[in-house]
Amino acid sequence: ALTTRGRLRGLGWTPIAPATTDAVETPDGFDQDIVIRWGDPLFAGAPAFDPHAQTGPKQETQFGYNNDYLGFLPLSKNVELMCVNHEYTDEVLMFAGYDAANPTREQVEVAWAAHGLSVVAVKGNQGNGKLKPIVGHGHNRRFTATSEFAVSGPARGSQLLQTSADPSGSVVRGTLNNCSGGLTPWGTWLTAEENFNQYFANGAAVTDPLGSRAIRRYGIPTGETERKWERFDDRFDLAEEPNEVNRFGWIVEIDPYDPTSTPVKRTLLGRFKHEAGTAVIDRRGRAVVYSGDDERFDYLYKFVSRKKVNRSGGFRGNADLLDSGTLYVARFTGDSPAAEIDGTGSLPSDRQFDGVGQWIPLCTESESFVPGMSVEEVLVYTRLAADTVGPTKMDRPEDVETNPVNHKIYMALTNNTQRGTAGKAGVDEANPRNANKHGHVIEMTETGNDPAATTFAWNILLVCGDPADPATYFGGFDKAQVSPISCPDNVTFDEHGNLWISTDGNQLGAHDGLYAVPLTGRYRGQVRQFCSVPTGAETCGPWVTERRVNICVQHPGETNDSTFENPASHWPDGGGSLPRPAVVTMWQNGRSGAPKHRGE
Ligand code: FEO
Ligand code: CA
Ligand code: CA
Ligand code: CA
Repeated sequence: ALTTRGRLRGLGWTPIAPATTDAVETPDGFDQDIVIRWGDPLFAGAPAFDPHAQTGPKQETQFGYNNDYLGFLPLSKNVELMCVNHEYTDEVLMFAGYDAANPTREQVEVAWAAHGLSVVAVKGNQGNGKLKPIVGHGHNRRFTATSEFAVSGPARGSQLLQTSADPSGSVVRGTLNNCSGGLTPWGTWLTAEENFNQYFANGAAVTDPLGSRAIRRYGIPTGETERKWERFDDRFDLAEEPNEVNRFGWIVEIDPYDPTSTPVKRTLLGRFKHEAGTAVIDRRGRAVVYSGDDERFDYLYKFVSRKKVNRSGGFRGNADLLDSGTLYVARFTGDSPAAEIDGTGSLPSDRQFDGVGQWIPLCTESESFVPGMSVEEVLVYTRLAADTVGPTKMDRPEDVETNPVNHKIYMALTNNTQRGTAGKAGVDEANPRNANKHGHVIEMTETGNDPAATTFAWNILLVCGDPADPATYFGGFDKAQVSPISCPDNVTFDEHGNLWISTDGNQLGAHDGLYAVPLTGRYRGQVRQFCSVPTGAETCGPWVTERRVNICVQHPGETNDSTFENPASHWPDGGGSLPRPAVVTMWQNGRSGAPKHRGE
C-alpha cells in the first residue's frame, strides 16, 4: 500500500489497488450507495423501468442514459438540485436484439429521450452520505434531443443557423452529446455539447466552400450515420437541412432553479467539441469561462465577458452576461530547447515541461479578429477560425477547471496516440510524448492570477502511465509511492484544494477510476486512487465535498461483443441484470463528514 506520513488534509484513506472487478471499489472504511440509475422515475406517475417495454414517452419521464457531468446546487435545507448530463446512448445494451443496420422508430425515439439532461431534486441523509431522488419534485426536469432551446449571442438568427423548421435561426430542438460542464458562480449550469458531429448524415451534400471545409474539420459523416436517425427525422440529414448541424456544438446555459425556464445556447463561446465549460470571476467582476475542444490536435479556449457578473442575480440577473465579451484560443510556448523535447516523455535539462502562453483573441460580439471571417463565421466555424491564428495543437483537451484554493487551472489531456506519427504534428513541450497513450495534466497560472489575463505560465503536473515507465512524471514525487493513472478526463477539487481526476479508457489493463492528488507540500504529485468502476465503464462527473464523494458511472458493460442479451457487466443490480449507468455516492462509514480527516 502507498504510505503517507504527516498531515494530508482530505486524503486520510489508504488508496485502493487498481481493480478489474464488476463493481465500484472504494478504500477501506467507505460505504457506497446508488443515487439514481438509467430508467429510474423522475416524475409522479412515471412508469417503472422495463427494458423490454421501453418507449420514448416513458423514457422522457425517467433518468436518461450514460450520465456524464454531475453537479449539485443547493435548494433548501438538506435538498440539492442534482444536474446531470446524458451524453449518448449504447443501443446494443439498451434494446433486445438491436439491429444496428435497421433500428426501429421506437428505438430511435427512446434514444432521443435518453439523451440530454436531468435536473433531479435529491435529499441528503444527515447520518451518512446517502442521497435519494425526490420523485415528483417540482424542480425535476428532463431535457432531451427534442426539447426546446433558445439561442443567444452574435450567431442568433444567423443565416448559418436557419432551417426550414426555424427560419428565425433562434430556436433549436434538442441538445446532444452533453459531456462535462460546470456550475457558475452566479448559480446556473453550463453543459457542453461535445461529439455532435456523429448525429448528422450526408455531409457531402454541403457544398459551399466554408461549410464543406467545416464538414471535414468537424468530422461530420459524408454519408449515413451509425445511429441512422436521419431515417426518422430530416433534420439529421444534411441533404435536407444543411444548417441543422450548425445548431449543435455549443455551450448551453440552464437555470435549474426555474423549472419553467428555457435553456440557452450561448454562441459567443464558440462552436466545437466542447468537453466542458467552467466559469470563474475575474478581478474586475467579469465572467471567465474555460473550455477544451476534445479532439486530437485541437485547442483550449476561454471566454471573458464584457459585463460584470451579478453574483446574486442567478440566470435572469445575468441573462446576457455571456453574450458580449471576447473569445480566445491558447498558444503554449515551452522554455526548453526543442532538441530536449525528444518525444519519449523524459524531462528536459531544466527538469520541467513548462513555459509561458498567450490567449489569442478570435472575436468579440461585434468584431472579428480573423481576416476574411465574420463574427458569425468565427463562432459557427470556430475550429476553422482558430486554425488561422497559430494555437497549440493539444493531446485532446478534456476538462479544464480553476482550483478554488490556489487559483491555478488544471487541464486534463486525455491521450493522443497519433502525436508524432506520419503526417501528424510532432511533440512540443506542452505535449511532450509521442504516441501519447496515457495522457497528461497541465497546471496553468494566469498572469497575476487574473483569469482575464491574456498571458499565462504553465507546467506539466503529471505525465500519466505506469509509474515504473520512465516516460511518466508525477509532479516530482517518488514514483514508488503513487497509484498508476491513465487517460485523465474530468477534474474537480475538494475543499482543501486537492485535485481529483477521473479517467476514461485506462490503458494499463485495469478499470477506470477516480484519483486524488495533493498539489502543495511534500506530497505534491502523489496520485492516490480513490475508487474504480465496473467492467466497461468510465468514471465521470466527480463531485467531492466534506460529506461525500459522488461519481457518475458511465457506460458500464461497454466492451466489444457486449450485448443486451449477454452484457459484459451486471452492475449495479447484479445477477443476470442489464448494466445501468448510474450516479454513485460514497462516504466514510461512521462519519457524516466523509474523506476529511488527517492521514497518518
Ligand atoms: Fe465525452 Fe471528451 O469526453
Ligand atoms: Ca522546461
Ligand atoms: Ca469526458
Ligand atoms: Ca473522454
